[in-house]
Amino acid sequence: MKAYRAALLRFDDQHQPVYDSDGLLVVGPDATGRKVVRAVGDHASLIDRFPGVAVEDLRGRIIAPGFVDMHIHYPQTDVIGAPAAGLLPWLEQYTFPHESRFSDEGHAREVAGFFFDELQRHGVTTALTFATSHPQSVDAAFKEAQARGLRFITGKVLQDRHSPDGVRDDTEQSLIDTETLIQRWHGVDRLGYAITPRFAPTSSPAQLRGAGELAAKYPDVWIQSHVAENVDEVKWVAELFPRSRSYLGVYGDFGLLRERAIYAHCIHLDAADRALMRETGAAAAISPTSNLFLGSGFFDHAAADATGMRYGLASDVGGGTSFSPFHTMLAAYYVGREGQSKTGMSLTPGQLWWQHTAGAAQALGLGGVVGNLQPGCDADFVVLNPRATPLLARKTAQASRLDELLFALIVLGDDRVVERTVTA
Ligand code: GUN
Ligand code: ZN
Repeated sequence: MKAYRAALLRFDDQHQPVYDSDGLLVVGPDATGRKVVRAVGDHASLIDRFPGVAVEDLRGRIIAPGFVDMHIHYPQTDVIGAPAAGLLPWLEQYTFPHESRFSDEGHAREVAGFFFDELQRHGVTTALTFATSHPQSVDAAFKEAQARGLRFITGKVLQDRHSPDGVRDDTEQSLIDTETLIQRWHGVDRLGYAITPRFAPTSSPAQLRGAGELAAKYPDVWIQSHVAENVDEVKWVAELFPRSRSYLGVYGDFGLLRERAIYAHCIHLDAADRALMRETGAAAAISPTSNLFLGSGFFDHAAADATGMRYGLASDVGGGTSFSPFHTMLAAYYVGREGQSKTGMSLTPGQLWWQHTAGAAQALGLGGVVGNLQPGCDADFVVLNPRATPLLARKTAQASRLDELLFALIVLGDDRVVERTVTA
């Protein structure tokens, strides 16, 4: 066992932030050998229970749960900042050409190594990630994550139509490859598989049907895709699937809405779509830096809350502009203020932070496993320096309430704040 003395940030069952200004975090193996949080709370009231346990003194720092990124594309690490008119030209001009290079496992492994270094530098300890349509891109990412002992979920992209040579796959082979990869990787160490149709326009009905059959056969495997991101895309889906009630309805019609099904964006949904998300237990991965960068639109937080659907935050690199959870939380704040509901609703710093940690974990079906510092959670956490820059030091010294402290970090923070990222 090992203990850390620092300020501690975590969340209670009502999603409220809990802060111990002089806290103790004790980590160690549980009965099965899993490395978990053993105890957490006020230093003075806990310390006597752990005689002989080494305590690292990190007073002046804040220990917080590792961030959970609900939607990111590791093969788009080099696509960040690519200028295009909107989603569909961005895919054609930049994304597909970049992703075609992942047929080379050596290239995939090199990018994956850089990608995990970036996640770690930014304090992200769990990510649900797209690979590419090449099975070797999945092997490369899982091998790299396994070597680092990370909790990590990815899957082979399914895209058998409306895709150029180099990324387009074959319907039948794509489903065989998916099942092979599920059997090879799902549940190994801390790794999980996600059935990954890119989005409805690039999968034939036969491929979507096959994906739905695999989703039913392997109920604890994840599903990930994109939905209702961009108005041109929504129009295209209506032409391709005229019998479905809506874009989201296409996924429902093929058995791809259930718990552990994570849909990026969810911008252009209607009330019936949101109700369908709630009823099926599917969750939205909100990607505000991507939505602002590609001009896609604004996620409607107020409508999502009114419906009671699940959601959490995501970077969506490389449509997204940053690996930093701080940048994503700040962009979500802007969207919450200026979004389509025009209700003037804005998110509190505690809500933003929850949505990128415990809330994202809950939406992934990993509540109580990652994203929080409660006894039994994986020992994945970050050590934050609230004095990392001169302005942060000045601002955080003046914070007299927790929301002021958290807001200073969200507005001014980035990778410089993340002093250390500890996984397991
Ligand atoms: N829709 C289909 N593919 C993609 C992708 O790679 N990024 C984003 N943002 N949307 C998509
Ligand atoms: Zn995406």
